[in-house]
Amino acid sequence: MAKGRLTPAKIMQLGTGFWGSKTLLSAIELGLFTELAKGPIDGAALTKRLQLHPRSARDFFDALVALGMLKRTGSRYANTAETSLFLDRAKASYVGGILEMCNARLYRFWGSLTEGLRTGKAQNEVKTGEDFFGTLYADPQRLEGFLKAMTGLSIGPAQVIAKKFPWKKYRTFVDVGCAQGGVAVEIALAHKHLMGGGMDLPVVQPVFEAYVKARGVAQRLRFHSGSFFKDPLPKCDVIVMGHILHDWNLEEKIMLLRKAYDVLPPGGAVIIHEALIDDARKQNAFGLLMSLNMLIETHGGFDFTGADCRKWMKDVGFKRTQVARLIGPDGMVVGYK
Ligand SMILES: C[S@@+](CC[C@H](N)C(=O)[O-])C[C@H]1O[C@@H](n2cnc3c(N)ncnc32)[C@H](O)[C@@H]1O
Repeated sequence: MAKGRLTPAKIMQLGTGFWGSKTLLSAIELGLFTELAKGPIDGAALTKRLQLHPRSARDFFDALVALGMLKRTGSRYANTAETSLFLDRAKASYVGGILEMCNARLYRFWGSLTEGLRTGKAQNEVKTGEDFFGTLYADPQRLEGFLKAMTGLSIGPAQVIAKKFPWKKYRTFVDVGCAQGGVAVEIALAHKHLMGGGMDLPVVQPVFEAYVKARGVAQRLRFHSGSFFKDPLPKCDVIVMGHILHDWNLEEKIMLLRKAYDVLPPGGAVIIHEALIDDARKQNAFGLLMSLNMLIETHGGFDFTGADCRKWMKDVGFKRTQVARLIGPDGMVVGYK
């Protein structure tokens, strides 16, 4: 491109991207979209309802209009079709859990990204030397917030896993590191013949049980309490692990794949789903940024490509492996024993 035509617009947009991001995150924190889901409302009334200062409110609302997150007709504000469906806390389709966590934790921790890049060290609560999940889960509110956030992150990919994987050939499955149970529930709802469950740390059990009950599948999904480092994985036909391998270093990743291999019957399968980085490592910016997020959040975790995962699966003995795209940045790697 001729030099005269170059503009810094893309650079400036990315560089100031956190302004828009934080505006959306604050709107979610304030419950703006949940409020507007009750019906369009005049700016002055909305300011009062959210207890905002009059100096900030108009720019805040109109910035969200300009960012495509709200609509305004005259002085009345309304949700867009997307914010109404996905950011109203009262709807089952709410995906704000992960964004609530971005607001409450990650926004701050990403402020130390440069330090993380220089030291290779996590920049979250573990800076004080404790382990990530132990520290996160010590506070019941943070625990529930994180587990719910995982459902927000995984519900879309889970619906595609429920469609794309040949579930009819199998009878049992366990989602290892299941969090609230978001993935297991979507699979169970789509395939009534399946019995299954979720395995996670003991502290997760009540949150999982409440969620599967609320979604009407408690009869078919049970909780397996344990640690995938200390305990064997539950025996079943299909093991699912979503956003698990990326939390751990290479040795730990391979150990988890080996544990899955050991417990599966011949013909059984492991499904790994993550924000899979494209094999050329040039396109899936979300996957690559997720890997930097693992730098912020964990001691040795990193995201990986489909080709990386297929190689690890082959190394532990899986006979056949396959990569499939799910939605957005997400993909799955399936290994058949
Ligand atoms: C990043 S979340 C992924 C949740 C879910 N699979 C998903 O994709 O939405 C990681 C999960 O691993 C669980 N976990 C961490 N350490 C574990 C361990 N040692 N044993 C079992 N589960 C563990 C956490 O409690 C958490 O639910």
